[in-house]
Amino acid sequence: MPPTISRIVQALEPSATLAMAAKAKELKAAGKQVLDFTLGEPDFTTPPHICEAACRAMQAGHTHYTPAAGIPELRAAIARQYQQQHGLECTPQQVVVSNGAKHALHNVFTCLCNPQDEVIIPAPYWVSYAELVKLTGARPVIVPTREEDDFKLTPAALRAAITPRTTLLLLCSPSNPTGTVYTREELAALADVVLEHNLLVLSDEIYEQLVYEPHRFTSFPTVRPGLWERTVVVNGCSKAYAMTGWRIGWSISPRNVAQAIDGLQSQQTSNPSSISQYAALAALEGPQDCVAQMRAEFAQRRQYVKSRIEALPRVSCSQMAGAFYAFMNIQAYLGRNYGTERVDNSQQWCLALLQQEQVATVMGSAFGAEGYVRLSFAASMDSLEEGFDRLARFLASAS
Ligand SMILES: Cc1ncc(COP(=O)(O)O)c(C=O)c1O
Repeated sequence: MPPTISRIVQALEPSATLAMAAKAKELKAAGKQVLDFTLGEPDFTTPPHICEAACRAMQAGHTHYTPAAGIPELRAAIARQYQQQHGLECTPQQVVVSNGAKHALHNVFTCLCNPQDEVIIPAPYWVSYAELVKLTGARPVIVPTREEDDFKLTPAALRAAITPRTTLLLLCSPSNPTGTVYTREELAALADVVLEHNLLVLSDEIYEQLVYEPHRFTSFPTVRPGLWERTVVVNGCSKAYAMTGWRIGWSISPRNVAQAIDGLQSQQTSNPSSISQYAALAALEGPQDCVAQMRAEFAQRRQYVKSRIEALPRVSCSQMAGAFYAFMNIQAYLGRNYGTERVDNSQQWCLALLQQEQVATVMGSAFGAEGYVRLSFAASMDSLEEGFDRLARFLASAS
């Protein structure tokens, strides 16, 4: 008899994004020319001055354990950056550096949720939130949003989802998978409900640096007095500096929450990589034109992707105000045949597109939104051009 896996882990959904990426890789290995638009990471390499800082850190012997919550210089740099950019007082003691933003999120859920607590998660949502909540024994409460509202949670929908068990509201702006960016006014309207019901908020701001004109980023706790005491902000280096592999993310929390996260992390993973922390310090304190360059490149691709989607008959799309995702409504193309294949849902649609045109995307059902598909434009212009030609051909073949 093979060992029995724990119930809590058996209940986890494997990451659909990674599963589609793995299928695309399989086809590539079999010699197919696959265009992969599943990726949730910048396709740029980490800027050289950041890599050089990591080399220097190794040469200087920064190859040992650090304090669990991170090196003091990095915690201070994060606090300073947050304070300067968003105008809220922030001390290094509020910052805990973790092994990527995903780890930071897991730590926050673990420190704030008890079994049976409810965590409100607006859908479409990033694939890991609900699973990380489940790991704590708490219950994700998924609240659907509407394409007509650009997938934004409304105060009325939030209010309707609150029960005596609600502890935490999760917000993600700019959003993965929709690219939605809330305005200050929209966040303030949600904040009023949060304050009225004494909720805690986890604000995932990992795509902060990727917001396109004329849209603007707003950090949630800045929109009303009294929110900073009840909000945890999660952010990191992965998306802004093309540093997904370095695994540096962080939380900024009320002091007692940060202490709890520090304690948890000290027993769990200890510190994140010492070398990556020095690289992150160089990222935050060094020149920021690399961020502007990447944003400009993404902005150009976004324009192109928008124009190509607009030209697809009966496909609509989110506004794509931030991040690097197009979230397309493909409902008009379900319940159709593609060659000999019958396609009734977004998963079948993505698989058929992959098999027939070797274009990899992720089904909306993985993000809690059936009838949609996420296409990442963290890919070269050449591949986007070819990818949309293939996509248009695939749609035209529906009968
Ligand atoms: C919304 C969101 N939050 C957090 C993360 C995790 O980031 P990291 O790679 O730093 O763990 C991702 C990564 O895709 C994301 O899209």
